[in-house]
Amino acid sequence: MSYKSMFGKVLNVALMGNPVLGKKCRPVLDPLTSEVQELISDMKETIRHRGCLGIAAPQVFCPIRLVVYHIPIKVDDPETYDLTPEYDPEGVPPQVLINPEITPLSDKMSEGWEGCQSVPGLLGLVERYHSIHLKTMDEKGRIYEKEAHGFHARIIQHECDHLDGILFPHKLKDPRMFGYYEEVLKYLK
Ligand code: NI
Repeated sequence: MSYKSMFGKVLNVALMGNPVLGKKCRPVLDPLTSEVQELISDMKETIRHRGCLGIAAPQVFCPIRLVVYHIPIKVDDPETYDLTPEYDPEGVPPQVLINPEITPLSDKMSEGWEGCQSVPGLLGLVERYHSIHLKTMDEKGRIYEKEAHGFHARIIQHECDHLDGILFPHKLKDPRMFGYYEEVLKYLK
C-alpha cells in the first residue's frame, strides 16, 4: 500500500500488537549505506504524508536505532504546538537521530498528552523528563550533542522509547488518563 513520490516512499506503519514494536532495536553500524539513506528519506516522506511529528524505524518494520522527527509551527493548530514556544520559537526542522543516547538534565518531570502513529486515534497522559541531553549521529554519520526541553524533549523521549520496544501506553501514570482523541480534547477544555 506504499507509493512513491518525488521525495521517497510513504511507508506502512506497524500498529500496537505487532511484535516488531516490542523489540530492542539494534544499532545502525553504517548510516551511509544506501539502505539506511533510503530508509531515512522514506521516513521523512512518511511523516510529511501522515502529518505527524515523528516516527521511529521499528514503526516502519526496521528494528534499528533510527528516528526522524520535526516540530512544524502551526499557528492555526495550537493542539500540536504551543506548549513550549519559549524553547523552540521557530519549531524544529526535520531531525535524524541515529543510535541516540538520552541523559536527563535534572529530575524535573512534565506531564503531557501523547499520541502515536502505532496507536491511532488515542491519546494518553505521560510524564517525561522536562530537560534532556542528547548525544546522537545525524544522517551524515556526524556525532553531535544538544539539549532539548519541554515539548521538544518529550518528542525525543517518545521516539527513542520505540527503539527499546516501549510505546506511550506502557508509560501511563494513570491508566484512566487515556482515551480517544476527540473525547480527550473535548473534555480537556
Ligand atoms: Ni510513537
